[in-house]
Amino acid sequence: MTTNRTFTMIKPDAVENGHIGSILEKITSAGFKILALKKTQLTLNEAQAFYSVHCERPFFGELVKFMTRGPIVAAILEKDNAVNDFRVLIGVTNPAEAAEGTIRNLYAISMGENAVHGSDSDENAATEGAFHFSQREIF
Ligand code: RTP
Ligand code: MG
Repeated sequence: MTTNRTFTMIKPDAVENGHIGSILEKITSAGFKILALKKTQLTLNEAQAFYSVHCERPFFGELVKFMTRGPIVAAILEKDNAVNDFRVLIGVTNPAEAAEGTIRNLYAISMGENAVHGSDSDENAATEGAFHFSQREIF
């Protein structure tokens, strides 16, 4: 069964470069409703926990350092087929290969600094949303 929610973060590179507004506009124009939204900064422990699935990968240290270096914008989004449709909207991990008009194509800098996160499954969308938001912050 698929659910209709996904979770995203606008990553530190895109926040630093002033792309919060443009990215949120792309997201809402694509038909996603914003159920929860906050600007925050991950601690080292939070970033390590959030990306723990990648802890054995060679880029893990770099990823955690990047994700904690400045504020991010976290959001829970709602749309039919949210997880898959959002992955299409953001484009593939490497912005050099991301399709024309996708968020990573437009706003990302590199494989590591790629502007946005998108959940990769319904289960992870629920876990990641709960990691950042309490029930009373979701509308
Ligand atoms: P995300 O989880 O952030 O939405 O990205 P993704 O699914 O497209 O990619 P994933 O494989 O889950 O990797 C998580 C994040 O790690 C960084 N990364 N760096 N230097 C590298 O080779 C490398 N590979 C991955 C990226 O920030 C990627 O989004
Ligand atoms: Mg991923």
